[in-house]
Amino acid sequence: MIDVNESIAALDWSKEPQGLYAPIAYALSSGGKRLRMQLVLAGCRLVGGNEQDALPFAEAIEVFHNFTLLHDDVMDRADVRRGMPTVHVKWNDNTAILSGDQMLIEAYHLLEGVSANHLPELLKLFTRTATEICEGQQYDVDFEQRDDVQIADYIEMIRLKTSVLLAAALQGGAIIGGATAAQQEALYNYGIHLGLAFQIQDDLLDCFGDPQTFGKAIGGDISCNKKTYLLLSALNNADAGQRAELSRWLAQTAPSAEKISAVKELYMATRAREAAEQAIAEHTRQALDCLNLLPDNDERKQLEQLAQKLAQRKS
Ligand code: IPE
Ligand code: IPE
Ligand code: MG
Ligand code: MG
Ligand code: MG
Repeated sequence: MIDVNESIAALDWSKEPQGLYAPIAYALSSGGKRLRMQLVLAGCRLVGGNEQDALPFAEAIEVFHNFTLLHDDVMDRADVRRGMPTVHVKWNDNTAILSGDQMLIEAYHLLEGVSANHLPELLKLFTRTATEICEGQQYDVDFEQRDDVQIADYIEMIRLKTSVLLAAALQGGAIIGGATAAQQEALYNYGIHLGLAFQIQDDLLDCFGDPQTFGKAIGGDISCNKKTYLLLSALNNADAGQRAELSRWLAQTAPSAEKISAVKELYMATRAREAAEQAIAEHTRQALDCLNLLPDNDERKQLEQLAQKLAQRKS
């Protein structure tokens, strides 16, 4: 079995100028779950492929994911990731932008390593996915300023910013493993629902998680007025008084610990937390349904367990 951490650690960033490459080494050595890389390899194995063949695509996806985080942390004004200062804090915004850009280019460079017969298809999947993620990130930022966002808009936004990368990881691995079109589609759809559950869980942890375990600051989404599942459910469930209180806090844009704790209270009082937990359970169930269309083997069991484990995750 491929050791995903080892293979990421084997990428060489000891090039000049270090001002460009040291932040890449820093971001890639700070860990993370390596989820998307694991999904590529799992997708390949599930359909009977050799995971070694999927390694360049897996590395490309993981480097790409880490690139999105460098830019996302600038956009979200987030100072801590994986328990460490973010790149724009340790260096500066310009570094996060340019080293991030270079990571995107390195991801394409890694793609050059996939076998020639699969390259056109994988390039198309990768590029389409990258565009969708930018679209999702733009909606995420646009929604901060809007007060008419509905849950369906939010679901489409997180499908784009988060789910499609998990889905493309699985589908890309499956393509390399020789999957049929129906198998690719089932894995892609599993990835979409897994990603929706994953992002709603991320929103929950951003609010109610333990900063030590989660590795990110708590309350960042509340500070940015992110239209999370929690906020939208709270607005939907609130009585007139609670809605007025929420609106008052949304109008206060300066970051404050008081705002974070008041909004958290409102999430509890409006049962928004339960609504988010239910949505995670529902998308996890739908992810599991998609797996029923795939060969009933050990790899499929592992993807079932993964969906259940991620729904309970704390980090
Ligand atoms: C963070 O993804 C970005 C989201 C889509 C929520 P992960 O939680 O997978 O980040 P790492 O790579 O494990 O740190
Ligand atoms: C992340 O959404 C989506 C992408 C990075 C594309 P978040 O902004 O919620 O991710 P975290 O919480 O910073 O990891
Ligand atoms: Mg963020
Ligand atoms: Mg973000
Ligand atoms: Mg988040």
